[in-house]
Amino acid sequence: MTKILVTKLMVLSGCLLSAQGEDGKVNFEKDVYPFLENSCVDCHKAPYTKPGRSRPTKPKAGLRLDAAFGYVAGTEDGAVVVPGDPEKSPLLQLTMLDPDHDDFMPPKGDVLTDEQKKVLEKWIQEGADFGGWKGNEEGKPDDAKDAFEKKE
Ligand code: HEC
Repeated sequence: MTKILVTKLMVLSGCLLSAQGEDGKVNFEKDVYPFLENSCVDCHKAPYTKPGRSRPTKPKAGLRLDAAFGYVAGTEDGAVVVPGDPEKSPLLQLTMLDPDHDDFMPPKGDVLTDEQKKVLEKWIQEGADFGGWKGNEEGKPDDAKDAFEKKE
């Protein structure tokens, strides 16, 4: 019994280690984007027209999570990520609400696992660096930024 537990723990910490690049930092494209793409991007992506519809479906809350500039632009109400401050970042906080809460994200589909939330938290804590990832630039406004401003 104990032996099984130890092995499981080793597997878990192995996962955590692999979620970090050579510099020990979370790599957005490799470690974060895949699970956000799976759980969030269906409702938060570039406008698209569903078959049989004439008007495009827009990203919910005007928020695009399929492109770096979308995270920086946030919603009409502003930023959804505060680099270095996971507690002030709705992107993470909404996934941590009670799943019955009206604002819980995602409202449908695969909820984030504890492990994924930890990786997301660490990425925000480390400054929310996209490491050059830009994502889908379709519809990107000319003045849009695809990195958060660095605070010195
Ligand atoms: C099934 C569709 C759907 C999925 C999937 C989804 N969202 Fe949303 N999201 C919405 C809707 C609808 C709103 C607007 C809610 C509102 O205005 O009350 C929203 C709003 C938001 C907002 C802005 C909230 C605010 O108060 O301005 C954030 C941040 C957000 N979602 C993050 C996420 C994250 C992170 C995921 C994945 C873990 C996700 N969403 C998955 C539908 C979705």
